[in-house]
Amino acid sequence: MTQPRSDVRHAYISGTGFFVPEKVVTNDDLAAIMDTSDEWIQERTGIQTRRFAADGEGTTDLAIPAVEEALKSASLTVDDIDLIIFATCTPDHYLPGSGCLLQDRMGFREIGALDIRVQCSGFVYGLSIADQYIKTGVYRNILLIGAEAQSSGLDLSDEGRDVSVIFGDGAGAAIISATEEDRGILSTHLHSEGKYARELWVESPSTRNNPTISTADLEAGRHRLKMNGREVFRHAVARFPEAIVEALQANNLNMDDITLVIPHQANLRISQMVANRLGGPNDLIYSNIQKYGNTTAASIPIAMAEAISEGRIQSGDYVVLVAFGSGFTWASALIKW
Ligand code: COA
Repeated sequence: MTQPRSDVRHAYISGTGFFVPEKVVTNDDLAAIMDTSDEWIQERTGIQTRRFAADGEGTTDLAIPAVEEALKSASLTVDDIDLIIFATCTPDHYLPGSGCLLQDRMGFREIGALDIRVQCSGFVYGLSIADQYIKTGVYRNILLIGAEAQSSGLDLSDEGRDVSVIFGDGAGAAIISATEEDRGILSTHLHSEGKYARELWVESPSTRNNPTISTADLEAGRHRLKMNGREVFRHAVARFPEAIVEALQANNLNMDDITLVIPHQANLRISQMVANRLGGPNDLIYSNIQKYGNTTAASIPIAMAEAISEGRIQSGDYVVLVAFGSGFTWASALIKW
């Protein structure tokens, strides 16, 4: 562990990167294997394409190129990193965590490697953890990853069509670094409401059962992601704006001060409803779900890396990251860039 530094005050994002697998899956590709259509998917979700990992390509494989890009953009090497935080709900294996696999494969020092779950809110929760370690002077550079290989768990039959058309694979990474300058993460707010756990969940494997997964579970599809779409939608359109307003109020800011809101890319219709509720210009809310679908913990860091490369975020801008997803969980981070 590095020595505490009393002069360290802020945590800022010093580098970003992302990677999506090569295989592009169009809505028409899905319509060829299940009862759906490009029109239905675009109208309900805004999604046009998503990426699926190749056979044998797991979560860590997707994360590595994203991390390489993030390190490069921060002008750092693996030796500069003090902690790995890996947000994923689709780890390579049940255990150990993907952070450990990444530590080995990329040759990091024997630093801490912490996997966190929290599904679609995983990246913002991870940012909050990183912020605490940096503000308190414990660490100087933290690697935060959001990565998912979800396609192998999707039910691509007619029965699973309401869920499987929404999700895709990908990885995003950010380096969170210490600075004495007046910039960086101003606040994070984390929330959960576990009574809705079953509205968006994967039931098996479960430690309540022995064995944790049975043939009956597999036959009943209990290992597949299940979603009550309407209930998720109803909560998401309330929680996203609520979380944004909470972040603004905590920092005495209002919507006019914000350059960009980067929401978890759940569904374009949700983002549009959030934009309407908040007011502000049409392009205030960043969207790239059209290309990648919903990549769960990876969606915010992918969107953030793209927004930066498109010049949508400049030094001094106020940016809100906001997430909602399975749990239910939701969270925000307000950043002065
Ligand atoms: N293709 C074609 N038809 C489909 C379909 C698909 N992929 N999935 C469902 N349908 C059908 C349903 O079977 C239903 O048919 P019916 O009227 O004959 O019974 C019809 O479309 C309407 O289904 P419904 O579930 O009422 O649609 P909806 O308007 O609520 O839209 C979602 C479904 C999933 C798009 C919507 O509920 C949603 O966006 N929810 C939030 C999802 C989300 O953001 N999840 C990620 C959270 S992190």
